[in-house]
Amino acid sequence: MDEPGRLFSSGTWAPNLFAGKVVFCTGGAGTICSAQVKALVILGANAAIIGRRSAIATAAAKEIQSLRPGSLVVGISGDVRSVDSMKVAVARTVKELGRIDFLICGAAGNFLSPFDNLSANAFKTVIDIDLLGSFNATKACADELKRSRGRIIYISATLHYAGAALQTHAVAAKAGVDALSSQMCIEYGPIGVTSNVIAPGGIARTEGLTRLNDKSTWTKSQKMIPLQRWGTVSEIADATIFLFSPAAKYISGAIVPVDGGAWHMQSVV
Ligand code: HXC
Repeated sequence: MDEPGRLFSSGTWAPNLFAGKVVFCTGGAGTICSAQVKALVILGANAAIIGRRSAIATAAAKEIQSLRPGSLVVGISGDVRSVDSMKVAVARTVKELGRIDFLICGAAGNFLSPFDNLSANAFKTVIDIDLLGSFNATKACADELKRSRGRIIYISATLHYAGAALQTHAVAAKAGVDALSSQMCIEYGPIGVTSNVIAPGGIARTEGLTRLNDKSTWTKSQKMIPLQRWGTVSEIADATIFLFSPAAKYISGAIVPVDGGAWHMQSVV
């Protein structure tokens, strides 16, 4: 297990791996995405983090910028449910940071609800944030990614591989996100853009665990994971660094579960 405060496997990666690169990250103030952006910035990138609430995005950007002297990190308010909002965020990113090389689609919304209590609007709300939001961010970044022969990472999940109680909306949305990544792989591969998915399992200190998971089952749940523990955000950061690094230049259309092997244990037999 990582020691607390560890941001990524720092000895593994070249210090200036991402010098000159710019990352555009939706949901960038969240626990997982901010860890991804921190790692990229420490390794030389500049970044724009997009969030619905301006003050939170700005504060997160300021904190991340402080990690590497000379880095530029901007916090931009934007709503992934609006493609126009994403276009405004992209325009500001290009104006202030010059380009976009990496897109992380990480904005997500979720809650637990039995199907019988799930209104059409509740279902649509999560589809709009997770799936339409990923589409909108991709659409808005498309020209920049084509220009830079960039890379895309979608943050998905593993729960739709077998289905999950109380998660009809998120299961449907994340299945769509995986499909969107496949489409981008196929259509943008010839342009030199790669598209991959990171599928986190249970990651310590994230909302997915603390708000959506019953703490009384944690000990039992961790024993069900082949690697016997929750993951850490630094392990999501490591996967992100790898997928954006030159070492992954021939990897596209992949789904990379970062879950300690947990999805293999979802079978009931
Ligand atoms: C049933 C619910 C509900 C609940 C909201 N709704 N919460 N229905 N059970 N617990 C319904 C509302 O009644 C409404 O439908 C509709 O959803 C929209 O609700 P709003 O509150 O108006 O939506 P909004 O303000 O846009 O908020 C979006 C949200 C909210 C998703 C509901 O929770 C949010 O903003 N979350 C962002 C942060 C977040 O969830 N992060 C978690 C990420 S963790 P009606 O019919 O009444 O109009 C994560 C991990 C995933 O994603 C891992 C597995 C996939």
